Amino acid sequence: MKRFALSPSDPDFVQNPYPFYDLLRAGGKMVFWEDLNLPVVAGYDGVSMALRDTRFGREAPEGFEPDIPAHLRAFYDIEDHSMLELEGERHTRLRSLVLRAFTSRRIKALIPDLEEITNDLIDRFPDEEFDLMPAFAKMVPVRIICRLLGVPEEMSDQLLTWSNAMVAVYTPNRTRAIEEAASKAATEFSDFMRSYVEERRSKPADDLITSLIAAEQDGEKLTTDELITTCILLLNAGHEATVHSLGIAVKTLLEQNTPREFLSDDKIDGSIEELLRFDPPLHLFQRWVYEDTSFLGQPLKRGDKIGLLLGAANRDDDTWDDPDRFDPTRKVKQNTSFGAGIHFCVGAPLARLEMRVALPLLFERCPNIYLTDPPVYADTWHFHGLARLMVHV
Ligand code: HEM
Repeated sequence: MKRFALSPSDPDFVQNPYPFYDLLRAGGKMVFWEDLNLPVVAGYDGVSMALRDTRFGREAPEGFEPDIPAHLRAFYDIEDHSMLELEGERHTRLRSLVLRAFTSRRIKALIPDLEEITNDLIDRFPDEEFDLMPAFAKMVPVRIICRLLGVPEEMSDQLLTWSNAMVAVYTPNRTRAIEEAASKAATEFSDFMRSYVEERRSKPADDLITSLIAAEQDGEKLTTDELITTCILLLNAGHEATVHSLGIAVKTLLEQNTPREFLSDDKIDGSIEELLRFDPPLHLFQRWVYEDTSFLGQPLKRGDKIGLLLGAANRDDDTWDDPDRFDPTRKVKQNTSFGAGIHFCVGAPLARLEMRVALPLLFERCPNIYLTDPPVYADTWHFHGLARLMVHV
């Protein structure tokens, strides 16, 4: 297996990881990335196959469960009940309960709310140059996920703070301070959810918390701990990636001078898929190996881990013509940005809808929007996203 070395915090890599992904892909179907201490797959076919292959999964195989230090216990008390970290029966049960509550009717019904939130944010844009991330990209997803779940929207800023602290644990170079902050946020977030769920038991409404409470009260389907974790997972996963997909989408559309017709009703779906392929917000997911086996010509042992580079798979020239070109007319193939297989993103229809409503409204109401500074990506590789997006409207 060929070996490659590059820090995921390397400034050039942070701003543009794709040239390094090309090197990895040219090195073989599976290569070793020394700085991550991980064999990684960067080709489209390999990533797509691994995501669907039951020899691999997200939950540690028996005997390989990592030791959890005391200062991270509170964080893992939440993670232990997360469908994203489970396989088998518990994953299927939790996922199907969420999918049952996450109906396409309920998602579609959010269109007027999305329009209202987007318009409200645009109304507040200042006259001088400003950062579109906090003013827009961060706020649309958190406010809509609050409405979908049935959590007060005034909690948005607090939820963002907790969520940012928790997901920072997935940063490759995390420190003790990051871990302690994540555990503190997990404790506060779950205390809030517990008391909020208690309060909501006697006040049913047409929202996800009500559906999840019903599943919890309906016999053995959902324990209270699972209910709390599922709410936290949906609130966190429900906005972190979407924030960056919106920010990057605006950057790409402006930098590429994309004609506005590509945001029209009949063309926007193709544009969204191309935006998500071209520069997705999540680049690396890991899988445990469940049996001694071989994959892509490499021997693997039970208890090994492999890394799947979703962002690299989307730029594989064996799959995509001229992959580094942003082309909203591209005949859409399935990009890997939402994953595949049993963990395929539950929120994909909502994320797509948020982009479908927010982007055309932004460009329609701010026809003269332009970048005032080159956009800067943040050095938080678990999310490939912008630290700043300075614009004038
Ligand atoms: C553009 C925005 C988004 C992107 C790029 C994205 C991407 C992903 C990816 C790649 C996975 C699979 C992880 C893996 O296989 O290891 C995933 C899983 C998941 N996503 Fe998303 N996501 C987005 C938005 C959302 C939203 C809006 C929600 C919820 C409202 C959400 C909820 C989830 C959940 C619950 C899972 C776990 C599913 C499971 O384990 O069965 N995501 N997402």
